[in-house]
Amino acid sequence: MARIAENAGASAVSLTNTFLAMSIDPETRKPRLSNVTGGLSGPAIKPIALRMVYETAKAIDIPVIGMGGIVTPEDAVEFMLAGATAIQVGTASYADPRAAERLARGMQSWCRSHRVEKVSSLTGALELPSS
Ligand SMILES: Cc1cc2nc3c(=O)[nH]c(=O)nc-3n(C[C@H](O)[C@H](O)[C@H](O)COP(=O)(O)O)c2cc1C
Repeated sequence: MARIAENAGASAVSLTNTFLAMSIDPETRKPRLSNVTGGLSGPAIKPIALRMVYETAKAIDIPVIGMGGIVTPEDAVEFMLAGATAIQVGTASYADPRAAERLARGMQSWCRSHRVEKVSSLTGALELPSS
């Protein structure tokens, strides 16, 4: 899908969206969501989102914007290491409307304390175990 977007002229791709999920109340035997299924977001999806950003960034040459469960600056750094050029934050903004600002500042101090001069140098800088 990302390759198709790239070949069609996209300047970047962003992922991931939510993952279709459901919940059932065993007492009433009814779905907890009125639509029966709904999009799962937030920290529960982070490992899946991270894996997808990693695989997508390897497959295309345009920037990948990563999202899915980012709450802390360390989460954001993980997405950058996996290959994201930038990150987005959705669900965390419901708990903290200033989450984006907090994350930007947090990434700045993370970089400072880890002697990273340019945040962009984190993109794709994942160190794989040697085989
Ligand atoms: C309440 C809510 C509404 C959303 N609406 C949209 C939407 O209209 N279009 C879209 O592409 N993604 C939508 N998303 C998905 C988010 O943009 C984001 O991809 C996803 O929630 C994963 O990031 P997060 O874990 O930081 O929320 C929505 C997510 C939530 C929680």
